[in-house]
Amino acid sequence: MHGVYCFVVVVVLLWESWVTADPQTTLLNSGCSQYNASDTSAFVTTFNETLTDLRYSLSSKAADSSAARFATAQRPRTAEPVYALFQCRAYLSSADCLDCLSVAEVGIRRCGNAKGARVIYDGCILRYEGSIFFDQTTDIGNAGVCNGSAASDAGFSEAAKALVTDLTIATPRISGFFAAAERGGVFAVAQCVETVNEEGCAQCLTVAGANIDGCPPDTDGRAVDAGCFMRYSSKSFFPANQTVDLSQFLSSGKSNNKGAIIGGGVGGICGLLLLAIIALLWVKRSRKRQGVRT
Ligand SMILES: *[C@@H]1O[C@H](CO)[C@@H](O)[C@H](O)[C@H]1NC(C)=O
Ligand SMILES: *[C@@H]1O[C@H](CO)[C@@H](O)[C@H](O)[C@H]1NC(C)=O
Ligand SMILES: *[C@@H]1O[C@H](CO)[C@@H](O)[C@H](O)[C@H]1NC(C)=O
Ligand SMILES: *[C@@H]1O[C@H](CO)[C@@H](O)[C@H](O)[C@H]1NC(C)=O
Repeated sequence: MHGVYCFVVVVVLLWESWVTADPQTTLLNSGCSQYNASDTSAFVTTFNETLTDLRYSLSSKAADSSAARFATAQRPRTAEPVYALFQCRAYLSSADCLDCLSVAEVGIRRCGNAKGARVIYDGCILRYEGSIFFDQTTDIGNAGVCNGSAASDAGFSEAAKALVTDLTIATPRISGFFAAAERGGVFAVAQCVETVNEEGCAQCLTVAGANIDGCPPDTDGRAVDAGCFMRYSSKSFFPANQTVDLSQFLSSGKSNNKGAIIGGGVGGICGLLLLAIIALLWVKRSRKRQGVRT
């Protein structure tokens, strides 16, 4: 392929992929407290203020800082106290993160004046309660959400389980409690809320790992909980530059497989890049179509 031509195609595709937003709003889990606020109007006022605080806190942060993906807000000294927490997956753009908050806000308002509620999407989690819960790790209602047809590749299950295990160990040791990785055709992420400590993160991800472990050979699996999130898929669902080398965080000192990507002429790299981008766009499209239904 001619170098210049390829370059133009790559730039055009990258641009399109960049402007194609995807806040990943497939709903995975939701719940409303069975207790209602007794003073409805006080609750709604406080709740609205808390949500405004959350949005302000997220959007006032530098778009590329991890703080733009996590926020808490609280109104303790009111007739109906509200404590709220919001987190996006760290790989979302800040614009997608705010879009996910908008969807979550609509979703959580379906709980009316319930004293507490949560909604968990692929892209984000929003939760509020009448008392503080920010250090909570695992909670009743933690679950695995399996989906997709059985993977045709015989090695997929093993690869998925191994990557989930490594993420469980590595993520609590990583600053920001987020890791994305790709290995053996499996894409996976793990994340804890930033208000737990390393031990709490590890504890939550251990439960999540056990929940998601039942999903393979399904091509998609998620684990949802109060304090953490995990997901694996046979398809990429995060930008390639988000992956981290897990081996440096694993005490077992396993060697990692690198080197395969390096080599090949410019044409080879460009061709591979094109294929990767086209695959990515296709995945985004199909995910977007799914998202419309929820
Ligand atoms: C709270 O916010 C909702 C949604 O934006 C709005 O419909 C409602 O009027 C607000 N209520 C109060 C009391 O601010
Ligand atoms: C709470 O309010 C909802 C309506 O918003 C109602 O359907 C539900 O029964 C109430 N729950 C209790 C325990 O009163
Ligand atoms: C599960 O897969 C179906 C079919 O592809 C899709 O419509 C649905 O949104 C998926 N659900 C989740 C939670 O991913
Ligand atoms: C990943 O790439 C995007 C552009 O495609 C860029 O905005 C972002 O800063 C990059 N992130 C990292 C961690 O390098």
